[in-house]
Amino acid sequence: MNQQPSLYDRIGGESGIAALVDRFYERVLADAELKSYFEHAPMDKLRHMQREFFAAAAGGPIIYSGRPLRQVHHRLAISRREFQRFTDHLIETLQEMEGISRSDILDMIARINIYADEITNDTTVDG
Ligand code: HEM
Repeated sequence: MNQQPSLYDRIGGESGIAALVDRFYERVLADAELKSYFEHAPMDKLRHMQREFFAAAAGGPIIYSGRPLRQVHHRLAISRREFQRFTDHLIETLQEMEGISRSDILDMIARINIYADEITNDTTVDG
């Protein structure tokens, strides 16, 4: 086979995604503007689901088995600004990883931004 490695492969497959998710939530939980959301969250389950979600989004051979994102996030009333901070942490975490190019990072963020409307609940912003 002569296939190009996918973004999932470049992140390091299953173990790379696991490391990404762990480092990512370390940053999110250290962010004073975001951490209160996670005070009562089942973090082990969340990390597990986020591994699946990021793996699938990166083109890996994984199927996300969690609940629909709108259903999970609706009651949390997350603003666009908070969503942006969350994805900024993802950018910074990816920047720290070996072998991930700037275009890979932009690609991953584009794949995640698709879900902004399902995750945010910001009635002050159009669209
Ligand atoms: C790129 C954006 C995001 C993605 C892809 C995402 C994905 C996920 C996934 C896959 C779960 C687990 C679903 C399940 O248990 O079935 C989850 C749960 C959760 N997310 Fe997000 N999320 C995003 C943004 C955010 C933001 C911005 C916040 C808050 C600032 C947030 C807060 C939470 C919380 C608190 C839970 C746990 C809910 C609970 O089970 O009590 N998420 N998210």
